Amino acid sequence: MTLLDQRKLPGSKEFIEVRSLEETILAIRQMIVRGAPAIAMAGLYGMVLYLKSQSRKPSFMELTEKRNLLLESRPTAVNLRLALEKLFLNFFDYASLTNLHLIEIAEDEADELFKKDLSDNLAIAHNALKLFTEKKELSILTHCNTGALATAGHGTAIGILRTLRDSGFKLTVYAGETRPYHQGSRLTSWELMQEGIDCYIIADSMAGWLCHSRKIDAVIVGADRIAPNGDTANKIGTYSLSIIAKEHSVPFYVAATKVSFDFTIRTGEEITIEMRPEEELTRNSFLKDSEGKYYIPEGVLSPIGAKALNPGFDVTPAKNISAIVTEKGIISPVNEENVRLMME
Ligand code: MRU
Repeated sequence: MTLLDQRKLPGSKEFIEVRSLEETILAIRQMIVRGAPAIAMAGLYGMVLYLKSQSRKPSFMELTEKRNLLLESRPTAVNLRLALEKLFLNFFDYASLTNLHLIEIAEDEADELFKKDLSDNLAIAHNALKLFTEKKELSILTHCNTGALATAGHGTAIGILRTLRDSGFKLTVYAGETRPYHQGSRLTSWELMQEGIDCYIIADSMAGWLCHSRKIDAVIVGADRIAPNGDTANKIGTYSLSIIAKEHSVPFYVAATKVSFDFTIRTGEEITIEMRPEEELTRNSFLKDSEGKYYIPEGVLSPIGAKALNPGFDVTPAKNISAIVTEKGIISPVNEENVRLMME
């Protein structure tokens, strides 16, 4: 499997050949591939690599162990778990399947997920058009990266931006830099510039100023996991943005496909939040090569030995979300009844 090394963007566009499940897990852990849908797709292709590497059919227990290893790679997004559950449902008649069958099933499942993610992203964007009927010039604030890099191609929140632009809207996009990993300033600005969409990077701390001093028509973000009551886990900083949006009466939209919804939990309180390394905050370069050397000479942003807290995600309560835009339609108001009606 060939992956674009997202750690090195936008400095250089390098591809990495991933040859095994172990390398897939590493690629997900090290954020070579990131974004909930892309992680799920990479994970399924990782299972294909595992099956192809076997000279005999693995026992169901061996396969389950591998699946569990994969699941530990990043804990917040639900897409990978749901993709693996669906794959394992296809293995229900395990005893009668050969390893070749398993490979075929896993490959089909991965290809299918890829195709479905792309078509679902397009459907989300199409549905979102109903939210923007009043004017043709829009200023949108987004967070993290939810574009082609994070999905099979179009993107969720960024997919909406692409489709708005294609539908004749004149867009000004503000991309929160998304400290500390900079998905906004490194990746979203890169994607939007290539699309020719007017984009300004802002420091995350500028969102309040932005909503107060300029007309922002909407905040649009993606999701890593949505509880049945609509509480939404997404990149750290999303919750703060939702509060700022509410204070300034700016509509706050979440764009996500069905596989972001986790019906095994009740509320966002039950979502595991990934804690990430302190050095992402305390050093101005946290991108290391395989030998642990920094790509950019290590710089110091804080006293040596300073402690830092680095949650990768937060949960935005449903009450702060104006609508969740899905491939099936728009959920609004966001509450358990409407979520279940649309998504179950
Ligand atoms: O830590 P990351 O970069 O994997 O986090 C990504 C996000 O939080 C995205 O908003 C989310 O996965 C949706 S991508 C369509």
